[in-house]
Amino acid sequence: MNDLKRRDFLKASAALAGAAAAGGFSCVEIASAAPIDVPTIDKLSMRVLIDQQHDQFLPNSTVNGVVHEGPGPARSPDARNVLHNQWGLSLFVESQREQEQRAIMVDFGYTAPALINNIGLLKVDPGKLQALIVSHGHIDHYGGLIGFLQNYRGVIPADVKLYAGGEDNFCHRMRGNSPGQLSEGGTLDRRDISAQNVTTVLCETPTVIADHAFTTGKIKRNSMERILPNGFVDYTKEGAACEYGHYTATELQGKFVADEHVHEHATCFNIRGKGLVVISSCGHVGIVNSVRQAQEVSGVQKVHAIVGGFHLGPAPADYLKQVVAEIRKLEPDVVIPMHCSGLNFLLEARAQMPNNVIQTSTGSRLTFSA
Ligand SMILES: [Fe+2]
Repeated sequence: MNDLKRRDFLKASAALAGAAAAGGFSCVEIASAAPIDVPTIDKLSMRVLIDQQHDQFLPNSTVNGVVHEGPGPARSPDARNVLHNQWGLSLFVESQREQEQRAIMVDFGYTAPALINNIGLLKVDPGKLQALIVSHGHIDHYGGLIGFLQNYRGVIPADVKLYAGGEDNFCHRMRGNSPGQLSEGGTLDRRDISAQNVTTVLCETPTVIADHAFTTGKIKRNSMERILPNGFVDYTKEGAACEYGHYTATELQGKFVADEHVHEHATCFNIRGKGLVVISSCGHVGIVNSVRQAQEVSGVQKVHAIVGGFHLGPAPADYLKQVVAEIRKLEPDVVIPMHCSGLNFLLEARAQMPNNVIQTSTGSRLTFSA
């Protein structure tokens, strides 16, 4: 089946059957392309389940109305265990509108044992989850997913869905800067998700998640940000359920091509009276682009918070300065860099926006309120 036909088939199947059998892979839906009604919520609480470090001395603080509770020691009662840290990100996000409460998880860290360990120590309840979101197809964001499901599927509601930005989330990736020097990057195989009775929804267009959140859909690249390839991708690897109509026949001849992160999407909330909270997990598509896309699809211009990984760790100093200046122009109340944002980003953001930056670590809790 060629790409176009297959995608039409996916859409038709999703429309007819809800959870379609698509090219041999069950449980795939395509999100509706209709414009969304962006929900407004009263309160948002975000727990950092996985980041690269646990800093027990991080102080509690309130910055422009956003409350940060540092993780503290976060040890087990017998003192023999503590939070695990690794390259990657995972967030447990609870929201409230009047008396209505929702919980979603955004990304799953690199490995399941670390994620499961921290869920236990931080006492978050996977039984509350109404939706799972994977930000993009990199293993430091989906690596813990299957093990997480294997461990908790019995308590997670039966109808939970995994929301991904698009089909190329599931392509085979290789790490490295040139085709001659690549190392394995991994693949998120949809069959492993289906085996856990979780339907995957491909959200190439903005999508409301669990009544309270929304995703940006595909993010346009229209800022000064340079979207450099961060690795390579094979769009044809057999078994990975990865076929993507964006690519030409030449690109689809079994060779690795530069990864443009076509599918990366951001998860957002609109806090009543405060504006947007935009969660970018890795920001390969540009953090300014991501925020602008959230503004465009929601019609909400006020940016309350920019949170997550901004992928500026390896950025040259002059470029970093420019990006931070562009972030400042967005006038966010707070900027909360995590994961791949980089120490240099934290320092530059503090220099340019001294009253707007919150530093977090694994175990931190952030609260945003109307
Ligand atoms: Fe990442």
